[in-house]
Amino acid sequence: MPTSREVHLVARPVGEPDPTDFSLVETSVDEPGPGQVLVRNDWISVDPYMRGRMNDTKSYVPPFQLGEPMEGGAVGTVVSSGSDDLPVGTAVSHFAGWREYALLPEKAVRPVDTSLAPAQAYLGALGMVGLTAYAGLTEVAEVREGDTVFISGAAGAVGSIAGQIARQLGAKRVVGSAGGPEKKRRLLEEFGFDAAIDYREGSLTKQLAQAAPDGVDVYFDNVGGDHLQAALNVMNEFGRVALCGQIASYNATEPVPGPNNMFMAVGKRLNLRGFIVGDHNHLAGEYARRAAGWIAEGKLHTEETVVDGIDNSVQAFLDMMRGANTGKMLVRLPQQ
Ligand SMILES: NC(=O)c1ccc[n+]([C@@H]2O[C@H](COP(=O)([O-])OP(=O)(O)OC[C@H]3O[C@@H](n4cnc5c(N)ncnc54)[C@H](OP(=O)(O)O)[C@@H]3O)[C@@H](O)[C@H]2O)c1
Repeated sequence: MPTSREVHLVARPVGEPDPTDFSLVETSVDEPGPGQVLVRNDWISVDPYMRGRMNDTKSYVPPFQLGEPMEGGAVGTVVSSGSDDLPVGTAVSHFAGWREYALLPEKAVRPVDTSLAPAQAYLGALGMVGLTAYAGLTEVAEVREGDTVFISGAAGAVGSIAGQIARQLGAKRVVGSAGGPEKKRRLLEEFGFDAAIDYREGSLTKQLAQAAPDGVDVYFDNVGGDHLQAALNVMNEFGRVALCGQIASYNATEPVPGPNNMFMAVGKRLNLRGFIVGDHNHLAGEYARRAAGWIAEGKLHTEETVVDGIDNSVQAFLDMMRGANTGKMLVRLPQQ
């Protein structure tokens, strides 16, 4: 049997995580028993929510345990099987990422259809990331025909898909913000945004007011902080805000001040609603069908930033948190 390397959390980060908070540990791998499969991970996902799981605090998911392998989305190939339903060679997705091999009960893995899209798409556009964008825009913010939609973190995994889905749902104007001129260019030229903001370029409110001269009806918030404050300033009456994430504060060591203009939400009768994608799994089938159609018609462009090797996975996570990615940040492992 092969050996497997896996990433353990060995210290709880304070502020921005440091590579020494993690350790790459070699373990032995057992043969699967009845009802189990051994999966070789081919792609693993690094995601912002993992930063929260590194803290020992109560949240909607439990913290990672010190000295244990971290978890996360992964896709791989069954290389040894004790399951009639999952023969050797089956491509599967599961939640035992951050490691080269995973021994799993058959119930913990889900076959993925690689005739529709490459396996790694199930960690991005066709997986949790795409469903987050879709659920946030449809069930949470209820995008309507003719809306102006603003998306922060727009060049990232969720944001780049949300911008394109908003268009498919009938938005008349889609505005995105991201860090730096190159990401701004890509929002306009590759992801089809009508207007783009580089949040490092100066006043967000001013830039947003220019980019959305008729105001904003829906704000899809991936960032929080100054972005939420600017959005509140330019929202139209009865606007809807999908609070998806607050990445600007994930490494904060002190409580982060809230927007100083919350009264705008009263005067404008705004609806601000937080959500977690796991509460919207009932949309998965509907979304998968629509997303496959949009991809086939060339209406949903997906982008990945790929880092090779389990030994670079921690760095990939740290770099994603700093904005090194466009589209989905993925770690590719050797596939034989
Ligand atoms: N509610 C849910 O169920 C759910 C599910 C998935 C994801 N999320 C949330 O959605 C957001 C995006 O996640 P993702 O997986 O798509 O990650 P991502 O956007 O692909 O990667 C994170 C991005 O955040 C941006 N960023 C980092 N620090 C920032 C700051 N201080 N201000 C503005 N932007 C900053 C960086 O882009 P720039 O170069 O543009 O700064 C970076 O590329 C996160 O907040 C995440 O927690 C929520």
